[in-house]
Amino acid sequence: MPGAVRIVAGAGNAQFRQGVMGKKKFNKAWLDRHLSDPYVKQAQQRGYRSRGAFKLIEIDDRDQLVRPGIRVVDLGSTPGAWSQVLRERMTDRSGAFQGRIIALDLLPMEPIPGVEFLLGDFREAEVLARLEQALDGHRVDLIVSDMAPNLSGVAAADAARMSDLIELALDFAVHHLKADGSLLVKCFHGSGYSQLVRRFKEVFEQVEPRKPKASRDESAETYLLGRRLKGAASAGNPS
Ligand SMILES: C[S@@+](CC[C@H](N)C(=O)[O-])C[C@H]1O[C@@H](n2cnc3c(N)ncnc32)[C@H](O)[C@@H]1O
Repeated sequence: MPGAVRIVAGAGNAQFRQGVMGKKKFNKAWLDRHLSDPYVKQAQQRGYRSRGAFKLIEIDDRDQLVRPGIRVVDLGSTPGAWSQVLRERMTDRSGAFQGRIIALDLLPMEPIPGVEFLLGDFREAEVLARLEQALDGHRVDLIVSDMAPNLSGVAAADAARMSDLIELALDFAVHHLKADGSLLVKCFHGSGYSQLVRRFKEVFEQVEPRKPKASRDESAETYLLGRRLKGAASAGNPS
């Protein structure tokens, strides 16, 4: 999956090209596009672990979700670009990191100072229990989920696996968000999208799609942002 390529800071294009072509996983057109992508270059310059950082940056510049002092869960966090952005934006003017970031992925993630990382599959009860234990009964202000299954190429199966992940993230939000909290999830604009929007509208007061510029036009990837749990969904969730 092209999106799974990790930027190696400092690796030159020739070295990168040789590495990925050597693995015969990527075609030339994809590779050329990747290497001339301005977001890839900017990510390298700014030390982000992937170009995906700019998706969260653009959404947050508009929606102001992240600030020092909040508690955040970052689902599907590896390689860690969103966690890097969260950490930057939760650092106050004096340079002190304020708040809590708990990141989770089924793949390992290189450590980021201040980010607590849990390794495991979000679909497994034992992993969910570890995440809940880490929260220690505290509600969270923000849940971001960039989780995406490895695509099999069978559209119906891939869509079903993606909607399972989103459904789980939504359920987690209902149980663990503060009443005025927000959930941002990656989804695919295709079959099942309008049903997903309906589900979000059952749970949140405000539901908006977001397609940041860093998300390629030809990709069905989009993001849904839900803000403020509806009364019934937030019963027992203080602000
Ligand atoms: C697009 S990447 C996330 C990129 C990340 N937001 C960043 O900025 O670096 C999607 C991630 O979702 C993870 N993922 C997919 N299914 C998962 C699951 N069931 N549980 C936990 N993580 C999952 C993958 O391992 C992958 O690292």
